[in-house]
Amino acid sequence: MADAIGNKKAHEYHLDVPAPAEGFFVKGNNGAGWGMKNRLARMFRRESGNTVMLAFDHGYIMGPTSGLERIDVVIPPLAPWVDVLMGTKGALSSCISPTVTAGKCLRVTYDTTVLFEDLSAGGGIVCDIENAIRMNADCMAVQTFIGAAGEARSLELLARVSDAGSRYGIPTLGVVAVGKEMERTEKFFLLATRVLAENGANVVKSYYCDGFERVAAACPVPIVIAGGKKLPEREALEMAYRAISEGARGVDMGRNIFQSDSPVGMAQAIGKVVHEGYTAAQAYEVYEEVKNSEGNTGR
Ligand code: R5P
Repeated sequence: MADAIGNKKAHEYHLDVPAPAEGFFVKGNNGAGWGMKNRLARMFRRESGNTVMLAFDHGYIMGPTSGLERIDVVIPPLAPWVDVLMGTKGALSSCISPTVTAGKCLRVTYDTTVLFEDLSAGGGIVCDIENAIRMNADCMAVQTFIGAAGEARSLELLARVSDAGSRYGIPTLGVVAVGKEMERTEKFFLLATRVLAENGANVVKSYYCDGFERVAAACPVPIVIAGGKKLPEREALEMAYRAISEGARGVDMGRNIFQSDSPVGMAQAIGKVVHEGYTAAQAYEVYEEVKNSEGNTGR
């Protein structure tokens, strides 16, 4: 018990200062408990309200994707430049140091591999809530297949994960999958992002599309955009800039960062767009600067 003798008398109650009434800064999550808000605040920066997530979970269905042959070599140098690392429990625990300070988004569902015709054909939980807690996850990612054969199963998984997440204060990231056969229109993304949010996602990962402004407005929680297949750096920065200008609260990008000629340059350039309002042209200069300095140091 604290020693009460000699303590300064507690009499400053600041009666003229009202208690903070401000809502929580991450859209749609004001009703969450303190623990969940704390984890969301580790993902989204208070100053910009946005996040840069680095996705390197591709191997969970694709095996060693180009650029991710050695996760232990490629990802650690990028960690200081992003807010969140998104990976599987296997990749995080085997390739990423537990001293990492970036947030961690753990993919908690598995799906069939690319050897199967239909990626939505099967799947389930690969990392339960206890394991997510043990790994100190800031977020749990669930793949969903809206409009495909696996729709009902993946929504069931989303609901189960989000219920467990609510119980223990870990937010759920609902991921919108786009298969070969699936349309990538405003109409599709309006429906898919809204369905995920209404079924328990605290944050939704989707794709940029024409009409994105309306998609972001109609989704009651933040949307972060996936990068998709590798684009020339300037185009990827343009896409990120347009998405942020039209209401995205960040990116969850993989190939457009780790397959770049300068992954560190691209991670920094994306950060400038997401957090500091740089245009694509300004951010491209940052990318080039970093890339050239790597050349000069013989990297
Ligand atoms: C999503 O389902 C994937 O596993 C990746 O997380 C996602 O596609 C983001 O990576 P990329 O920017 O390479 O598309």
